[in-house]
Amino acid sequence: MGHEQLTRRDLFLKCAALGSLAVMPRLPLAHALMLWEEQRFKPTAWDEIGPFYKRDAPNKTRLRSPGDAGLPVSISGKVLDVNGNLLPGAKVEIWQANHLGHYDLEGYRYRATLIADDHASYSFDSVMPGHYPGRVCQHVHYLVNAPAHKTLTTQLYFATDPVFEGDPDNNYTRDPLIYSRELVRPVTLVGDPKDIHASVNFEIVLERL
Ligand SMILES: [Fe+2]
Repeated sequence: MGHEQLTRRDLFLKCAALGSLAVMPRLPLAHALMLWEEQRFKPTAWDEIGPFYKRDAPNKTRLRSPGDAGLPVSISGKVLDVNGNLLPGAKVEIWQANHLGHYDLEGYRYRATLIADDHASYSFDSVMPGHYPGRVCQHVHYLVNAPAHKTLTTQLYFATDPVFEGDPDNNYTRDPLIYSRELVRPVTLVGDPKDIHASVNFEIVLERL
């Protein structure tokens, strides 16, 4: 059974059995389980949609063309509701500037419409977006829709952005449009030295209507 199929109760019981979750002796197991099942995920913070959104971007996961300049980056995540339920079929529209900070306003370079798969996962290959006048930090725009849930517009930021000088906790407010520290995500460098690229995880949590 993959971890995607574990119910929250299954996960609790498995973690408790394996010792990766300890319940204090004073807390009855049934009560602990009830608290665990009521655990809520914080909705992903809202951010501006910005002026460069275009509807009907193509369904593609490879935004980076061979030879494109910039650090390759793979971005992935799941779409969940506040109770941790997966939302397969959620529509995730993303758009970003290229390595030089230019948006494609004529066509659909670095724009895509993604549909979360059966495990509610989405992913795409791109390049680290460039800085551009009027915006302080590198970012990827998101517009996320799922039936019976509130539409979310937000932006993903990168902890490695030079603007943060290695300290996003203290410096994320240098971009006045970063309303939440949680939108600044860690970056992992993966691959071998000949094919190194960045990897970023960005879960999306939607509120119900
Ligand atoms: Fe932008």
